[in-house]
Amino acid sequence: MDRIIVKGGAQVSGALEISGAKNACLALMPAALLTDEPLTLTNAPDLTDITTMVDLLRSFGCEVAALKNNSVIAISAGLINNYLAEYDIVRKMRASILVLGPLLARVGQATVSLPGGCAIGARPVDLHLKGLEAMGAELNLVDGYINANAKSGLQGANYEFPSVSVGATENLIMAATLAKGSSCFKNCAREPEVVDLCNCLKSMGAKISGAGTSEILIEGVSRLSGTTHKVISDRIELGTYMLVPAIAGGTLLLKGATKKTLEAFTLKLEETGAVIIENEEGLLVSGSQSGVEPTNIITEPYPGFPTDLQAQMMALLIFSNGVSLLEEKIFENRFMHAPELMRMGANIELDGGTAKVTGVKKIKGAPVMATDLRASVSLILAALAAEGETVISRVYHLDRGYERLENKLFSCGVDIRRV
Ligand code: UD1
Repeated sequence: MDRIIVKGGAQVSGALEISGAKNACLALMPAALLTDEPLTLTNAPDLTDITTMVDLLRSFGCEVAALKNNSVIAISAGLINNYLAEYDIVRKMRASILVLGPLLARVGQATVSLPGGCAIGARPVDLHLKGLEAMGAELNLVDGYINANAKSGLQGANYEFPSVSVGATENLIMAATLAKGSSCFKNCAREPEVVDLCNCLKSMGAKISGAGTSEILIEGVSRLSGTTHKVISDRIELGTYMLVPAIAGGTLLLKGATKKTLEAFTLKLEETGAVIIENEEGLLVSGSQSGVEPTNIITEPYPGFPTDLQAQMMALLIFSNGVSLLEEKIFENRFMHAPELMRMGANIELDGGTAKVTGVKKIKGAPVMATDLRASVSLILAALAAEGETVISRVYHLDRGYERLENKLFSCGVDIRRV
């Protein structure tokens, strides 16, 4: 199994491109099920999660062509001849649940495995199911599978999400585009990935308003057409690479990036002393000259501080000159990186959903284990400023969400290799 070895201590310099957004792409690909015409996505990231979604779509009978190093994905769901999303695929990637709404809307049936347990908490799908039931779907849970039917079509509905869910918002939006009549969804997720999905659906002919606000209105149409859509860039990858100079020292240009979709994060990063300059080329980020200041963060739905950057921010705060509190409000059990960082010498106390991080002057490289996508990258970030070598195992988690990670880091001066 692959491992990544990082030798700490090198300052970084140079420029990096940010890839297309994994989470946007994973919602856009199932949208292809809503039409018999091809949907072409450009700026797609080359990641194993995307390959998993390709496999899932192919299992329904879709023709999928991946071109230009997988950065262009053309999906044609002309004929859907299978409605079963197998456990073996769904358990690998929870976003597989996003096929449920589109399949129900287009062909009136779907059988999708329940995602099951997940490393970062229970992550149920009840909100997806309640919303689809409100639209007239009949759902039965049989042997770990959701059997869903809407034989005479889905009906538009008014539905208020009891709590904010990115995936459930996306699933319901897709379902409502082909439902009979109008839908009004309240307490929707406002993430840029939801907006990107709505923009693509609108160019396919969907009638949607309110994307990016908590209330989304959709007027169902009888059919959607194909389109070509450019996936937005990955704000979580951007935030991760903004932390590289903040931790390692030096300056990095993140090409084409802006602060816009990452304001809560950039404000916190600036509080720690990092300098962020937005110019016509992108974001120029430099590490603090006078040490890392502590800060407190609370993860929240967009536009709050993203849970997907909590682990990486912790990797910076372990070096601060004070005490920081990190409160995780989205997922229970999302501090699995903390014990691994502690093995490298970080001073972290966990108390339920809060981590108290007391900064230390230095940490040492150690063998550590990746536990989930964002946790793994936080170990790599910490390793940038650790003394000696850090060996990170189980790096397949990284390949799910960071395109060419070690090439990108190597190109800006990090001593990193995969063995
Ligand atoms: C998406 C992102 C993930 C990110 C998360 C929160 C994708 C592919 N993944 O995941 O990277 O960390 O948003 O920003 O876009 N919940 C329920 N019932 C449900 C659905 C969710 O209780 O039916 C809970 C979850 O357990 C979690 C919270 O709601 O505690 C938010 O989850 P949600 O926004 O749905 O996350 P995902 O869409 O799975």
